[in-house]
Amino acid sequence: MIGIFDSGYGGLTVLKPVIQTLPQYDYLYLGDNARAPYGIQNQENIEKFSEEAVNFLWNRGAELIIFACNTASALALRHIQQKYPDKKVLGVLIPVAEEAVKFKKVGVVGTQATIKSNAYEEQIREISKETKVYSKACPLLVPFIEEDWHHRPEAISILKKYLRSIKSHNVESLILGCTHYPLMQKDFERIMGKKVKILNCGQIVAKKLVDYLKRHPEIEKEIPKNSKRQFLTTGDPKAFKEFIEKHFGMKISMPKQVSLTPTQ
Ligand code: DGL
Repeated sequence: MIGIFDSGYGGLTVLKPVIQTLPQYDYLYLGDNARAPYGIQNQENIEKFSEEAVNFLWNRGAELIIFACNTASALALRHIQQKYPDKKVLGVLIPVAEEAVKFKKVGVVGTQATIKSNAYEEQIREISKETKVYSKACPLLVPFIEEDWHHRPEAISILKKYLRSIKSHNVESLILGCTHYPLMQKDFERIMGKKVKILNCGQIVAKKLVDYLKRHPEIEKEIPKNSKRQFLTTGDPKAFKEFIEKHFGMKISMPKQVSLTPTQ
């Protein structure tokens, strides 16, 4: 199956478009809710948690793993890919950076850890030196979204404040570099204005995954195609199910609670 890993609930903004685009495959979603948010963790912890997650998913039989979590993609993916060169683990940064270089000036918003890592900026620069990147950490947005307070005026005024510096650079495009932000996409669009193209990681990853599987038939043929979906969380399964059903309009079976055993 395809394993989708996130720090918690937010990875559904990736899983949902991926399932809509490629419904035939089996998917196993793992949310490390018990240790979320990752966005305030240091690199060492993010690498450790991510490594535990991939080992867990490999033990469950994942042929391909996608890091839906921007923070894990930014801070841990390279480490995992270098340590396990024979395994297939993809993240959100490269596909999104490939889209971003179509613009001259791009904004990036994300968690504190993602923005501090400069990973988006570096990834974009690796592909093209022509694109200028302006970043802003928006640490208050994830808690607002998880509290379901993100449509309140307080959240909107915080978002406006966060976006002020990026707007002042007249960017042509804005990367929503955090799993949760698509839940406020309409607000981002309204504040940034019609001329700014909002880059939504989940939709981009879904599109690129189609190409990736075409280019790698040896992986594609290994992935079971029974349209099975399973959800695992290290946190509270009931809270997980409620959040997903409320915010993503998906009916899911009760997630299983799991613990990610440390790697040696
Ligand atoms: N999943 C994280 C990301 O995309 C956001 C939530 C967290 O900080 O754990 O960066």
